[in-house]
Amino acid sequence: MCGIVGCVSKENCYEKILSALSGLEYRGYDSAGIAMVSPSKTLNVRKKKGYVSNLKGKPLAGDTGIGHTRWATHGKPSDANAHPHVSGKFALVHNGIVENFRTLKDELLRQGEVFLSETDSEVIVKLIARAYDGDFFGAVAKACERLKGSYALAVLCADFPGEIVGVRQGSPLVAGAAADALYLCSDVPALCGAAEFICPASDGEFIRIGGGKICFCDGQGREICKQFTRVPPESRLTSAASGTFMEKEISEIPRALSDTLAGLTETDFAPCARILRGAKQVYAAACGTALHAAEMFADVAESEVRCPVFCFAASEFRYRDPLIGKDDLFVAVSQSGETADTLQAARLAKERGAYVLAVTNIAQSSLASLAHFTIVMRAGPEIAVAATKSYNCQLLCLYYLAAQMKFYRTQEFPDWFASLPSLSSAAEETFGCFLQMSALAAKLKDARGMFCLGRGLDVRTAEEGALKVKEIAYVFAEGYAAGELKHGTLALIEEGFPVFTISTSPALASKTDNALAEAKARGAFTVLLSQDTAALSESCADCKCALPALHEKLMPVLAVIPLQYFACRMCLLRGYDPDKPRNLAKSVTVE
Ligand code: AGP
Ligand code: GLU
Repeated sequence: MCGIVGCVSKENCYEKILSALSGLEYRGYDSAGIAMVSPSKTLNVRKKKGYVSNLKGKPLAGDTGIGHTRWATHGKPSDANAHPHVSGKFALVHNGIVENFRTLKDELLRQGEVFLSETDSEVIVKLIARAYDGDFFGAVAKACERLKGSYALAVLCADFPGEIVGVRQGSPLVAGAAADALYLCSDVPALCGAAEFICPASDGEFIRIGGGKICFCDGQGREICKQFTRVPPESRLTSAASGTFMEKEISEIPRALSDTLAGLTETDFAPCARILRGAKQVYAAACGTALHAAEMFADVAESEVRCPVFCFAASEFRYRDPLIGKDDLFVAVSQSGETADTLQAARLAKERGAYVLAVTNIAQSSLASLAHFTIVMRAGPEIAVAATKSYNCQLLCLYYLAAQMKFYRTQEFPDWFASLPSLSSAAEETFGCFLQMSALAAKLKDARGMFCLGRGLDVRTAEEGALKVKEIAYVFAEGYAAGELKHGTLALIEEGFPVFTISTSPALASKTDNALAEAKARGAFTVLLSQDTAALSESCADCKCALPALHEKLMPVLAVIPLQYFACRMCLLRGYDPDKPRNLAKSVTVE
Protein backbone atom coordinates (compact mmCIF):
# COMPACT_ATOMS: atom_id res chain seq x y z
CA MET A 1 0.00 0.00 0.00
CA CYS A 2 2.27 2.71 -1.26
CA GLY A 3 6.01 2.81 -0.87
CA ILE A 4 8.07 5.71 0.37
CA VAL A 5 11.79 6.25 0.18
CA GLY A 6 14.22 8.97 1.20
CA CYS A 7 17.90 9.20 0.35
CA VAL A 8 20.82 11.43 1.27
CA SER A 9 23.84 10.66 -0.83
CA LYS A 10 27.36 11.87 -1.58
CA GLU A 11 26.31 12.49 -5.18
CA ASN A 12 23.12 13.00 -7.18
CA CYS A 13 20.67 10.42 -5.84
CA TYR A 14 17.83 10.59 -8.39
CA GLU A 15 18.70 7.18 -9.85
CA LYS A 16 19.05 5.65 -6.38
CA ILE A 17 15.55 6.82 -5.50
CA LEU A 18 14.19 5.61 -8.82
CA SER A 19 15.73 2.18 -8.25
CA ALA A 20 14.28 1.89 -4.72
CA LEU A 21 10.88 2.97 -6.06
CA SER A 22 11.00 0.18 -8.64
CA GLY A 23 11.52 -2.25 -5.77
CA LEU A 24 8.59 -0.71 -3.91
CA GLU A 25 6.25 -0.62 -6.86
CA TYR A 26 4.51 -3.87 -5.87
CA ARG A 27 3.10 -1.95 -2.89
CA GLY A 28 1.19 0.48 -5.10
CA TYR A 29 1.48 1.62 -8.66
CA ASP A 30 -1.18 4.11 -9.65
CA SER A 31 1.20 7.09 -9.62
CA ALA A 32 4.73 7.94 -8.61
CA GLY A 33 6.88 10.96 -7.83
CA ILE A 34 10.22 12.25 -6.62
CA ALA A 35 11.26 15.53 -4.94
CA MET A 36 14.86 16.62 -4.58
CA VAL A 37 16.63 19.47 -2.76
CA SER A 38 19.69 20.79 -4.52
CA PRO A 39 22.74 22.09 -2.62
CA SER A 40 21.64 25.59 -3.72
CA LYS A 41 18.42 25.00 -1.73
CA THR A 42 15.96 24.64 -4.57
CA LEU A 43 13.17 22.12 -4.38
CA ASN A 44 12.26 20.27 -7.59
CA VAL A 45 9.43 17.81 -8.04
CA ARG A 46 8.56 15.34 -10.78
CA LYS A 47 5.38 13.30 -10.36
CA LYS A 48 3.11 11.45 -12.72
CA LYS A 49 0.09 9.23 -12.86
CA GLY A 50 1.05 5.62 -13.74
CA TYR A 51 4.13 3.50 -13.22
CA VAL A 52 7.50 4.49 -11.74
CA SER A 53 9.03 4.15 -15.22
CA ASN A 54 7.25 7.42 -16.13
CA LEU A 55 9.75 9.24 -13.93
CA LYS A 56 12.76 8.22 -16.02
CA GLY A 57 14.52 11.10 -17.74
CA LYS A 58 17.06 13.77 -16.91
CA PRO A 59 17.73 13.45 -13.16
CA LEU A 60 16.50 16.27 -10.95
CA ALA A 61 19.40 18.10 -9.28
CA GLY A 62 20.36 17.26 -5.73
CA ASP A 63 21.90 14.77 -3.37
CA THR A 64 18.85 14.64 -1.10
CA GLY A 65 15.48 13.36 -2.20
CA ILE A 66 12.27 11.52 -1.42
CA GLY A 67 10.09 9.30 -3.60
CA HIS A 68 6.65 7.70 -3.58
CA THR A 69 4.72 5.06 -5.40
CA ARG A 70 1.02 5.40 -4.65
CA TRP A 71 -2.04 3.27 -3.94
CA ALA A 72 -4.75 5.91 -3.74
CA THR A 73 -6.97 6.09 -0.68
CA HIS A 74 -8.17 9.71 -1.02
CA GLY A 75 -8.45 11.17 -4.50
CA LYS A 76 -8.23 9.34 -7.81
CA PRO A 77 -4.88 8.47 -9.39
CA SER A 78 -3.75 11.67 -11.20
CA ASP A 79 -0.67 13.85 -11.61
CA ALA A 80 -2.02 16.31 -9.04
CA ASN A 81 -2.81 13.65 -6.43
CA ALA A 82 0.56 11.94 -6.89
CA HIS A 83 3.06 12.49 -4.09
CA PRO A 84 5.31 14.31 -3.16
CA HIS A 85 3.06 17.17 -2.01
CA VAL A 86 4.63 20.56 -1.52
CA SER A 87 3.92 23.53 0.72
CA GLY A 88 6.34 26.43 1.02
CA LYS A 89 9.81 25.01 1.59
CA PHE A 90 8.59 21.48 2.31
CA ALA A 91 7.94 18.37 0.27
CA LEU A 92 6.37 15.25 1.75
CA VAL A 93 5.57 11.64 0.88
CA HIS A 94 3.06 9.71 2.94
CA ASN A 95 1.99 6.10 3.30
CA GLY A 96 -1.25 5.62 5.21
CA ILE A 97 -4.44 7.52 5.93
CA VAL A 98 -5.00 10.71 7.93
CA GLU A 99 -8.34 9.85 9.50
CA ASN A 100 -9.06 13.39 10.74
CA PHE A 101 -8.01 15.04 7.48
CA ARG A 102 -11.48 16.53 6.84
CA THR A 103 -11.37 18.52 10.09
CA LEU A 104 -7.77 19.58 9.48
CA LYS A 105 -8.45 20.54 5.88
CA ASP A 106 -11.47 22.69 6.85
CA GLU A 107 -9.33 24.42 9.45
CA LEU A 108 -6.54 25.06 6.92
CA LEU A 109 -9.00 26.29 4.29
CA ARG A 110 -10.38 28.79 6.81
CA GLN A 111 -6.79 29.96 7.35
CA GLY A 112 -6.54 30.68 3.61
CA GLU A 113 -4.58 27.64 2.45
CA VAL A 114 -5.17 26.52 -1.14
CA PHE A 115 -5.05 22.79 -1.87
CA LEU A 116 -3.71 21.42 -5.13
CA SER A 117 -4.78 17.80 -4.57
CA GLU A 118 -7.70 15.79 -3.20
CA THR A 119 -5.44 13.72 -0.95
CA ASP A 120 -5.53 13.50 2.81
CA SER A 121 -1.71 13.71 2.72
CA GLU A 122 -1.55 17.33 1.58
CA VAL A 123 -2.87 18.53 4.96
CA ILE A 124 0.28 17.14 6.59
CA VAL A 125 2.70 19.15 4.51
CA LYS A 126 0.58 22.28 5.05
CA LEU A 127 0.62 21.73 8.82
CA ILE A 128 4.40 21.31 8.71
CA ALA A 129 4.93 24.47 6.67
CA ARG A 130 2.72 26.46 9.03
CA ALA A 131 4.51 25.09 12.12
CA TYR A 132 7.95 25.98 10.73
CA ASP A 133 10.02 28.61 12.52
CA GLY A 134 13.45 27.52 11.29
CA ASP A 135 13.37 24.19 13.17
CA PHE A 136 12.84 21.46 10.53
CA PHE A 137 12.44 18.52 12.93
CA GLY A 138 10.32 20.56 15.35
CA ALA A 139 7.87 21.49 12.56
CA VAL A 140 7.39 17.85 11.54
CA ALA A 141 7.00 16.69 15.15
CA LYS A 142 4.48 19.44 15.88
CA ALA A 143 2.41 18.63 12.79
CA CYS A 144 2.34 14.94 13.73
CA GLU A 145 0.75 15.79 17.06
CA ARG A 146 -2.36 16.82 15.12
CA LEU A 147 -2.67 13.63 13.06
CA LYS A 148 -4.98 10.72 13.70
CA GLY A 149 -4.65 7.56 11.62
CA SER A 150 -1.67 5.75 10.23
CA TYR A 151 1.35 7.17 8.56
CA ALA A 152 4.92 6.75 7.53
CA LEU A 153 6.33 10.06 6.30
CA ALA A 154 9.47 11.31 4.65
CA VAL A 155 9.89 15.08 4.56
CA LEU A 156 12.34 17.42 2.83
CA CYS A 157 12.97 21.09 3.63
CA ALA A 158 14.61 23.37 1.07
CA ASP A 159 16.53 25.12 3.88
CA PHE A 160 18.26 21.86 4.80
CA PRO A 161 19.89 20.08 1.86
CA GLY A 162 21.37 16.83 3.15
CA GLU A 163 18.59 16.28 5.69
CA ILE A 164 15.40 14.20 5.77
CA VAL A 165 12.95 13.72 8.60
CA GLY A 166 10.90 10.52 8.66
CA VAL A 167 8.39 9.18 11.14
CA ARG A 168 6.45 5.97 11.62
CA GLN A 169 3.01 5.64 13.15
CA GLY A 170 1.22 2.51 12.02
CA SER A 171 2.81 2.21 8.57
CA PRO A 172 6.19 0.51 8.11
CA LEU A 173 9.48 2.42 7.90
CA VAL A 174 13.08 1.25 8.05
CA ALA A 175 16.37 3.14 8.03
CA GLY A 176 19.19 1.89 5.79
CA ALA A 177 22.88 2.76 5.65
CA ALA A 178 25.63 2.26 3.07
CA ALA A 179 29.03 3.85 2.60
CA ASP A 180 27.76 6.21 -0.09
CA ALA A 181 24.19 6.93 1.03
CA LEU A 182 21.70 6.91 3.90
CA TYR A 183 18.08 5.86 3.41
CA LEU A 184 14.68 5.49 4.85
CA CYS A 185 12.22 3.23 3.13
CA SER A 186 8.93 1.33 3.52
CA ASP A 187 10.57 -2.07 3.32
CA VAL A 188 13.89 -3.87 3.36
CA PRO A 189 13.87 -5.66 -0.03
CA ALA A 190 13.72 -2.34 -1.89
CA LEU A 191 17.02 -1.36 -0.24
CA CYS A 192 18.81 -4.60 -1.10
CA GLY A 193 21.87 -3.88 -3.18
CA ALA A 194 21.77 -0.27 -1.95
CA ALA A 195 21.95 -0.38 1.86
CA GLU A 196 24.24 -2.68 3.81
CA PHE A 197 22.68 -2.20 7.23
CA ILE A 198 19.08 -1.68 8.24
CA CYS A 199 17.06 -0.83 11.31
CA PRO A 200 13.26 -0.79 11.46
CA ALA A 201 11.47 2.04 13.27
CA SER A 202 8.75 1.36 15.83
CA ASP A 203 5.52 3.30 16.08
CA GLY A 204 6.07 6.82 17.34
CA GLU A 205 9.74 6.91 16.35
CA PHE A 206 11.29 9.56 14.13
CA ILE A 207 14.25 8.96 11.84
CA ARG A 208 16.50 11.96 11.23
CA ILE A 209 19.04 11.78 8.46
CA GLY A 210 21.58 14.60 8.41
CA GLY A 211 25.23 15.44 8.98
CA GLY A 212 26.18 12.08 7.46
CA LYS A 213 24.36 10.01 10.08
CA ILE A 214 21.01 8.48 10.97
CA CYS A 215 19.45 9.17 14.31
CA PHE A 216 16.29 7.68 15.84
CA CYS A 217 14.39 9.87 18.28
CA ASP A 218 11.02 10.46 19.90
CA GLY A 219 8.70 13.42 19.23
CA GLN A 220 10.66 15.59 21.69
CA GLY A 221 13.89 14.91 19.83
CA ARG A 222 15.28 12.62 22.57
CA GLU A 223 17.59 10.11 20.98
CA ILE A 224 16.57 6.41 20.97
CA CYS A 225 19.35 3.84 20.92
CA LYS A 226 18.78 1.35 18.09
CA GLN A 227 20.73 -1.56 16.67
CA PHE A 228 21.41 -1.80 12.92
CA THR A 229 21.72 -5.28 11.40
CA ARG A 230 23.10 -6.49 8.09
CA VAL A 231 20.52 -6.70 5.27
CA PRO A 232 19.42 -10.35 5.16
CA PRO A 233 20.39 -11.85 1.78
CA GLU A 234 17.10 -13.79 1.51
CA SER A 235 15.14 -10.53 1.36
CA ARG A 236 16.79 -9.62 -1.93
CA LEU A 237 14.29 -9.05 -4.72
CA THR A 238 14.98 -11.19 -7.72
CA SER A 239 13.63 -10.26 -11.07
CA ALA A 240 11.25 -12.34 -13.12
CA ALA A 241 13.88 -12.96 -15.80
CA SER A 242 11.26 -13.98 -18.29
CA GLY A 243 7.53 -13.95 -17.82
CA THR A 244 5.82 -12.45 -14.83
CA PHE A 245 6.55 -12.58 -11.11
CA MET A 246 3.36 -14.55 -10.60
CA GLU A 247 4.52 -17.30 -12.98
CA LYS A 248 7.95 -17.26 -11.36
CA GLU A 249 6.47 -17.48 -7.88
CA ILE A 250 4.20 -20.39 -8.81
CA SER A 251 7.24 -22.17 -10.22
CA GLU A 252 9.02 -21.59 -6.88
CA ILE A 253 6.35 -23.37 -4.80
CA PRO A 254 8.26 -26.70 -4.49
CA ARG A 255 11.41 -24.95 -3.30
CA ALA A 256 9.46 -22.61 -1.02
CA LEU A 257 7.79 -25.63 0.60
CA SER A 258 11.04 -27.48 1.18
CA ASP A 259 12.76 -24.35 2.55
CA THR A 260 9.82 -23.70 4.85
CA LEU A 261 9.75 -27.24 6.16
CA ALA A 262 13.51 -27.20 6.68
CA GLY A 263 13.05 -24.09 8.84
CA LEU A 264 10.48 -25.75 11.10
CA THR A 265 11.87 -27.74 13.99
CA GLU A 266 9.88 -29.23 16.79
CA THR A 267 12.16 -27.84 19.50
CA ASP A 268 11.46 -24.31 18.23
CA PHE A 269 7.96 -24.65 19.62
CA ALA A 270 9.20 -25.19 23.17
CA PRO A 271 8.67 -21.52 24.18
CA CYS A 272 4.96 -21.82 23.46
CA ALA A 273 4.53 -25.38 24.78
CA ARG A 274 2.35 -24.22 27.68
CA ILE A 275 -0.21 -22.57 25.44
CA LEU A 276 -0.15 -25.26 22.75
CA ARG A 277 -0.87 -27.81 25.44
CA GLY A 278 -3.31 -25.82 27.50
CA ALA A 279 -5.19 -23.30 25.32
CA LYS A 280 -8.90 -23.76 25.96
CA GLN A 281 -9.89 -22.19 22.71
CA VAL A 282 -8.02 -21.03 19.64
CA TYR A 283 -8.77 -18.06 17.40
CA ALA A 284 -7.32 -17.45 13.96
CA ALA A 285 -7.61 -14.27 11.92
CA ALA A 286 -6.22 -13.01 8.62
CA CYS A 287 -7.25 -11.31 5.39
CA GLY A 288 -7.75 -12.42 1.80
CA THR A 289 -5.63 -15.38 0.81
CA ALA A 290 -4.15 -15.65 4.29
CA LEU A 291 -7.72 -15.89 5.60
CA HIS A 292 -8.28 -18.97 3.46
CA ALA A 293 -5.15 -20.48 5.01
CA ALA A 294 -6.40 -19.56 8.48
CA GLU A 295 -9.78 -21.16 7.73
CA MET A 296 -8.04 -24.31 6.60
CA PHE A 297 -6.09 -24.28 9.88
CA ALA A 298 -9.31 -23.95 11.88
CA ASP A 299 -10.80 -26.97 10.11
CA VAL A 300 -7.66 -29.12 10.46
CA ALA A 301 -6.70 -28.08 14.00
CA GLU A 302 -10.18 -28.47 15.47
CA SER A 303 -10.48 -31.98 14.14
CA GLU A 304 -6.98 -32.99 15.26
CA VAL A 305 -6.73 -31.18 18.58
CA ARG A 306 -10.36 -31.54 19.65
CA CYS A 307 -10.65 -28.02 21.02
CA PRO A 308 -12.72 -25.19 19.50
CA VAL A 309 -10.88 -23.22 16.79
CA PHE A 310 -12.67 -20.11 15.52
CA CYS A 311 -11.59 -18.24 12.43
CA PHE A 312 -12.44 -14.65 11.51
CA ALA A 313 -11.69 -12.12 8.81
CA ALA A 314 -9.26 -9.90 10.71
CA SER A 315 -11.16 -6.80 9.57
CA GLU A 316 -14.25 -8.08 11.41
CA PHE A 317 -12.63 -9.61 14.48
CA ARG A 318 -12.91 -6.71 16.89
CA TYR A 319 -16.44 -5.72 15.90
CA ARG A 320 -17.74 -8.92 17.48
CA ASP A 321 -16.33 -8.07 20.89
CA PRO A 322 -14.88 -11.61 20.85
CA LEU A 323 -14.80 -13.78 23.95
CA ILE A 324 -11.03 -14.14 23.75
CA GLY A 325 -8.94 -13.96 26.91
CA LYS A 326 -6.16 -15.38 29.03
CA ASP A 327 -5.13 -18.95 28.17
CA ASP A 328 -6.49 -18.59 24.63
CA LEU A 329 -4.29 -18.83 21.58
CA PHE A 330 -4.65 -16.27 18.79
CA VAL A 331 -3.06 -17.22 15.45
CA ALA A 332 -2.47 -14.30 13.06
CA VAL A 333 -1.54 -15.20 9.49
CA SER A 334 0.00 -12.64 7.14
CA GLN A 335 2.50 -12.94 4.31
CA SER A 336 3.67 -9.35 4.73
CA GLY A 337 3.16 -9.06 8.47
CA GLU A 338 2.07 -5.48 7.79
CA THR A 339 -1.64 -5.87 7.01
CA ALA A 340 -3.36 -3.26 9.18
CA ASP A 341 -6.53 -5.28 9.76
CA THR A 342 -4.54 -8.30 10.93
CA LEU A 343 -2.32 -6.17 13.16
CA GLN A 344 -5.34 -4.56 14.81
CA ALA A 345 -6.95 -7.93 15.45
CA ALA A 346 -3.70 -9.24 16.95
CA ARG A 347 -3.37 -6.14 19.16
CA LEU A 348 -6.88 -6.66 20.50
CA ALA A 349 -6.21 -10.33 21.21
CA LYS A 350 -3.00 -9.38 23.04
CA GLU A 351 -4.74 -6.65 25.05
CA ARG A 352 -7.27 -9.22 26.19
CA GLY A 353 -4.53 -11.48 27.47
CA ALA A 354 -4.40 -14.05 24.66
CA TYR A 355 -1.12 -15.54 23.47
CA VAL A 356 -0.43 -14.21 19.96
CA LEU A 357 1.28 -16.55 17.53
CA ALA A 358 2.14 -15.08 14.11
CA VAL A 359 2.71 -16.93 10.85
CA THR A 360 4.48 -14.59 8.45
CA ASN A 361 6.97 -14.47 5.61
CA ILE A 362 8.78 -11.43 7.01
CA ALA A 363 10.73 -11.98 10.22
CA GLN A 364 11.22 -8.24 10.80
CA SER A 365 7.56 -7.33 10.23
CA SER A 366 5.30 -5.40 12.58
CA LEU A 367 3.26 -8.54 13.21
CA ALA A 368 6.35 -10.51 14.21
CA SER A 369 7.39 -7.84 16.69
CA LEU A 370 3.91 -7.69 18.18
CA ALA A 371 3.50 -11.47 18.52
CA HIS A 372 4.62 -13.55 21.49
CA PHE A 373 5.86 -16.22 19.09
CA THR A 374 6.44 -16.23 15.34
CA ILE A 375 6.59 -19.00 12.79
CA VAL A 376 8.54 -17.62 9.85
CA MET A 377 7.71 -19.31 6.58
CA ARG A 378 10.50 -19.29 4.05
CA ALA A 379 8.62 -18.58 0.87
CA GLY A 380 11.20 -15.97 -0.20
CA PRO A 381 10.15 -12.54 -1.49
CA GLU A 382 6.71 -12.53 -3.08
CA ILE A 383 6.32 -9.64 -5.49
CA ALA A 384 3.17 -10.40 -7.50
CA VAL A 385 0.16 -8.88 -5.79
CA ALA A 386 -1.70 -12.18 -6.04
CA ALA A 387 -0.39 -14.44 -3.29
CA THR A 388 0.67 -17.88 -4.52
CA LYS A 389 3.70 -19.56 -2.96
CA SER A 390 3.07 -17.78 0.35
CA TYR A 391 -0.35 -19.46 0.54
CA ASN A 392 1.13 -22.94 0.10
CA CYS A 393 3.77 -22.15 2.73
CA GLN A 394 1.20 -20.69 5.14
CA LEU A 395 -0.75 -23.92 4.86
CA LEU A 396 2.39 -25.93 5.54
CA CYS A 397 3.23 -23.88 8.66
CA LEU A 398 -0.33 -24.11 9.92
CA TYR A 399 -0.51 -27.87 9.39
CA TYR A 400 2.75 -28.10 11.28
CA LEU A 401 1.32 -26.00 14.09
CA ALA A 402 -1.82 -28.16 14.30
CA ALA A 403 0.42 -31.23 14.48
CA GLN A 404 2.48 -29.72 17.31
CA MET A 405 -0.68 -28.85 19.22
CA LYS A 406 -1.89 -32.40 18.89
CA PHE A 407 1.46 -33.78 19.98
CA TYR A 408 1.68 -31.54 23.07
CA ARG A 409 -1.76 -32.78 24.13
CA THR A 410 -1.74 -36.45 23.17
CA GLN A 411 1.92 -37.36 22.54
CA GLU A 412 0.81 -38.39 19.07
CA PHE A 413 1.25 -36.73 15.72
CA PRO A 414 -1.54 -36.78 13.13
CA ASP A 415 -1.14 -39.60 10.60
CA TRP A 416 -0.42 -37.09 7.82
CA PHE A 417 2.53 -35.52 9.68
CA ALA A 418 5.04 -37.97 8.22
CA SER A 419 3.94 -37.01 4.69
CA LEU A 420 4.89 -33.32 5.02
CA PRO A 421 8.36 -33.87 3.45
CA SER A 422 6.64 -35.24 0.31
CA LEU A 423 4.75 -32.00 -0.29
CA SER A 424 7.55 -30.35 -2.21
CA SER A 425 7.96 -33.06 -4.86
CA ALA A 426 4.20 -33.57 -5.09
CA ALA A 427 3.83 -29.82 -5.69
CA GLU A 428 6.24 -30.18 -8.59
CA GLU A 429 4.10 -33.00 -9.98
CA THR A 430 1.06 -30.70 -10.07
CA PHE A 431 2.90 -28.76 -12.81
CA GLY A 432 1.88 -31.67 -15.02
CA CYS A 433 -1.65 -30.16 -14.99
CA PHE A 434 -0.49 -26.83 -16.40
CA LEU A 435 -0.96 -27.73 -20.07
CA GLN A 436 -4.54 -28.69 -19.36
CA MET A 437 -5.03 -25.49 -17.35
CA SER A 438 -3.63 -23.38 -20.22
CA ALA A 439 -6.08 -24.99 -22.63
CA LEU A 440 -8.94 -24.38 -20.19
CA ALA A 441 -7.91 -20.75 -19.76
CA ALA A 442 -7.95 -20.31 -23.54
CA LYS A 443 -11.38 -21.91 -23.78
CA LEU A 444 -12.89 -19.97 -20.87
CA LYS A 445 -11.15 -16.62 -21.14
CA ASP A 446 -14.30 -14.79 -22.19
CA ALA A 447 -16.54 -16.38 -19.54
CA ARG A 448 -18.66 -13.87 -17.65
CA GLY A 449 -18.31 -15.75 -14.40
CA MET A 450 -17.48 -19.09 -12.87
CA PHE A 451 -17.96 -21.23 -9.79
CA CYS A 452 -15.42 -23.23 -7.85
CA LEU A 453 -17.00 -25.91 -5.67
CA GLY A 454 -15.70 -28.14 -2.93
CA ARG A 455 -16.73 -29.98 0.21
CA GLY A 456 -14.85 -30.15 3.54
CA LEU A 457 -11.34 -28.74 3.23
CA ASP A 458 -11.88 -28.32 -0.52
CA VAL A 459 -14.25 -25.38 0.13
CA ARG A 460 -11.22 -23.30 1.14
CA THR A 461 -9.33 -24.30 -2.00
CA ALA A 462 -12.40 -23.37 -4.06
CA GLU A 463 -12.56 -19.97 -2.34
CA GLU A 464 -8.87 -19.34 -2.92
CA GLY A 465 -9.05 -20.37 -6.58
CA ALA A 466 -12.02 -18.05 -7.10
CA LEU A 467 -10.19 -15.17 -5.39
CA LYS A 468 -7.26 -15.59 -7.79
CA VAL A 469 -9.56 -15.49 -10.83
CA LYS A 470 -11.33 -12.36 -9.55
CA GLU A 471 -8.28 -10.39 -8.55
CA ILE A 472 -6.13 -10.85 -11.63
CA ALA A 473 -8.38 -12.01 -14.51
CA TYR A 474 -11.23 -9.67 -13.46
CA VAL A 475 -13.79 -12.43 -14.00
CA PHE A 476 -16.40 -12.81 -11.31
CA ALA A 477 -15.82 -16.14 -9.60
CA GLU A 478 -17.39 -17.62 -6.52
CA GLY A 479 -15.89 -20.29 -4.27
CA TYR A 480 -18.73 -22.29 -2.84
CA ALA A 481 -19.61 -25.28 -0.69
CA ALA A 482 -20.77 -27.85 -3.23
CA GLY A 483 -23.79 -28.79 -1.13
CA GLU A 484 -25.00 -25.19 -1.07
CA LEU A 485 -25.27 -24.94 -4.85
CA LYS A 486 -28.80 -26.32 -4.95
CA HIS A 487 -29.95 -23.84 -2.29
CA GLY A 488 -30.11 -20.91 -4.65
CA THR A 489 -26.94 -20.46 -6.66
CA LEU A 490 -27.90 -23.13 -9.18
CA ALA A 491 -30.26 -20.54 -10.66
CA LEU A 492 -27.23 -18.79 -12.16
CA ILE A 493 -26.07 -21.80 -14.18
CA GLU A 494 -26.68 -21.47 -17.90
CA GLU A 495 -25.28 -23.06 -21.05
CA GLY A 496 -21.49 -23.17 -20.95
CA PHE A 497 -21.13 -21.63 -17.45
CA PRO A 498 -17.79 -22.91 -16.04
CA VAL A 499 -17.97 -24.92 -12.82
CA PHE A 500 -14.68 -26.15 -11.36
CA THR A 501 -15.03 -28.82 -8.69
CA ILE A 502 -12.24 -29.76 -6.31
CA SER A 503 -12.69 -33.20 -4.80
CA THR A 504 -9.80 -34.51 -2.71
CA SER A 505 -11.61 -36.45 -0.01
CA PRO A 506 -12.58 -39.94 -1.28
CA ALA A 507 -15.27 -40.16 1.42
CA LEU A 508 -16.98 -37.04 0.09
CA ALA A 509 -16.32 -37.61 -3.62
CA SER A 510 -19.66 -39.05 -4.65
CA LYS A 511 -21.62 -36.29 -2.89
CA THR A 512 -19.42 -33.63 -4.45
CA ASP A 513 -19.94 -35.23 -7.83
CA ASN A 514 -23.71 -34.89 -7.34
CA ALA A 515 -23.28 -31.12 -7.31
CA LEU A 516 -21.15 -31.29 -10.47
CA ALA A 517 -23.79 -33.46 -12.17
CA GLU A 518 -26.57 -31.06 -11.13
CA ALA A 519 -24.67 -28.18 -12.70
CA LYS A 520 -23.86 -30.17 -15.84
CA ALA A 521 -27.52 -31.17 -16.23
CA ARG A 522 -28.29 -27.44 -16.50
CA GLY A 523 -25.71 -26.82 -19.17
CA ALA A 524 -22.59 -26.01 -17.12
CA PHE A 525 -19.12 -26.73 -18.49
CA THR A 526 -17.67 -28.83 -15.69
CA VAL A 527 -14.08 -29.43 -14.60
CA LEU A 528 -13.06 -31.89 -11.89
CA LEU A 529 -9.74 -31.77 -10.03
CA SER A 530 -8.96 -34.82 -7.92
CA GLN A 531 -6.23 -37.29 -6.99
CA ASP A 532 -8.84 -39.99 -6.48
CA THR A 533 -8.77 -42.22 -9.56
CA ALA A 534 -12.17 -43.75 -8.76
CA ALA A 535 -13.75 -40.31 -8.43
CA LEU A 536 -12.18 -39.21 -11.70
CA SER A 537 -13.33 -42.26 -13.66
CA GLU A 538 -16.89 -42.19 -12.29
CA SER A 539 -17.47 -38.47 -12.77
CA CYS A 540 -19.36 -37.07 -15.73
CA ALA A 541 -17.16 -33.94 -15.77
CA ASP A 542 -16.33 -32.43 -19.18
CA CYS A 543 -12.69 -32.07 -18.22
CA LYS A 544 -10.81 -34.13 -15.62
CA CYS A 545 -7.55 -33.06 -14.06
CA ALA A 546 -5.57 -35.69 -12.14
CA LEU A 547 -3.68 -34.35 -9.14
CA PRO A 548 -0.70 -36.19 -7.63
CA ALA A 549 -1.75 -38.39 -4.75
CA LEU A 550 -0.69 -37.58 -1.20
CA HIS A 551 -2.42 -38.01 2.15
CA GLU A 552 -5.88 -36.53 1.53
CA LYS A 553 -5.62 -34.10 4.48
CA LEU A 554 -2.59 -32.47 2.79
CA MET A 555 -4.20 -32.21 -0.64
CA PRO A 556 -5.23 -28.54 -0.18
CA VAL A 557 -1.56 -27.55 -0.40
CA LEU A 558 -1.44 -29.16 -3.85
CA ALA A 559 -4.94 -28.75 -5.28
CA VAL A 560 -4.73 -24.98 -5.31
CA ILE A 561 -1.66 -24.91 -7.59
CA PRO A 562 -3.45 -25.69 -10.90
CA LEU A 563 -6.06 -23.06 -9.97
CA GLN A 564 -3.36 -20.45 -9.33
CA TYR A 565 -1.88 -21.25 -12.71
CA PHE A 566 -5.27 -21.25 -14.44
CA ALA A 567 -6.02 -17.74 -13.07
CA CYS A 568 -2.60 -16.51 -14.19
CA ARG A 569 -3.07 -17.87 -17.74
CA MET A 570 -6.57 -16.46 -17.94
CA CYS A 571 -5.26 -13.06 -16.86
CA LEU A 572 -2.48 -13.08 -19.46
CA LEU A 573 -4.80 -14.27 -22.24
CA ARG A 574 -7.21 -11.45 -21.37
CA GLY A 575 -4.32 -9.01 -21.78
CA TYR A 576 -3.75 -8.02 -18.15
CA ASP A 577 -0.67 -7.87 -15.94
CA PRO A 578 -0.98 -10.47 -13.15
CA ASP A 579 1.71 -8.76 -11.09
CA LYS A 580 -0.12 -5.47 -10.84
CA PRO A 581 -3.89 -6.01 -10.81
CA ARG A 582 -5.97 -2.86 -10.96
CA ASN A 583 -7.03 -1.17 -7.71
CA LEU A 584 -4.94 -3.47 -5.51
CA ALA A 585 -1.64 -3.36 -3.66
CA LYS A 586 0.54 -6.05 -2.17
CA SER A 587 0.64 -4.80 1.35
CA VAL A 588 -2.56 -3.26 2.72
CA THR A 589 -1.39 -1.06 5.54
CA VAL A 590 -4.66 0.82 6.03
CA GLU A 591 -7.83 -0.47 7.66
C1 AGP B 1 -3.98 -12.31 -2.23
O1 AGP B 1 -3.86 -12.72 -3.54
C2 AGP B 1 -4.30 -10.90 -2.04
N1 AGP B 1 -3.48 -10.03 -2.75
C3 AGP B 1 -4.68 -10.49 -0.64
O2 AGP B 1 -5.91 -11.10 -0.38
C4 AGP B 1 -3.71 -10.78 0.53
O3 AGP B 1 -3.63 -12.15 0.74
C5 AGP B 1 -4.21 -10.04 1.78
O4 AGP B 1 -4.21 -8.67 1.53
C6 AGP B 1 -3.42 -10.37 3.02
O5 AGP B 1 -2.09 -10.01 2.89
P1 AGP B 1 -1.03 -10.48 3.96
O6 AGP B 1 -0.92 -11.96 3.83
O7 AGP B 1 0.24 -9.77 3.60
O8 AGP B 1 -1.55 -10.09 5.31
N1 GLU C 1 -3.65 8.45 1.66
C1 GLU C 1 -2.64 8.83 0.72
C2 GLU C 1 -3.20 9.07 -0.67
O1 GLU C 1 -4.28 8.63 -1.00
C3 GLU C 1 -1.49 7.86 0.68
C4 GLU C 1 -1.95 6.54 0.19
C5 GLU C 1 -0.85 5.53 0.16
O2 GLU C 1 -0.47 5.01 1.24
O3 GLU C 1 -0.41 5.25 -0.97
O4 GLU C 1 -2.54 9.68 -1.45
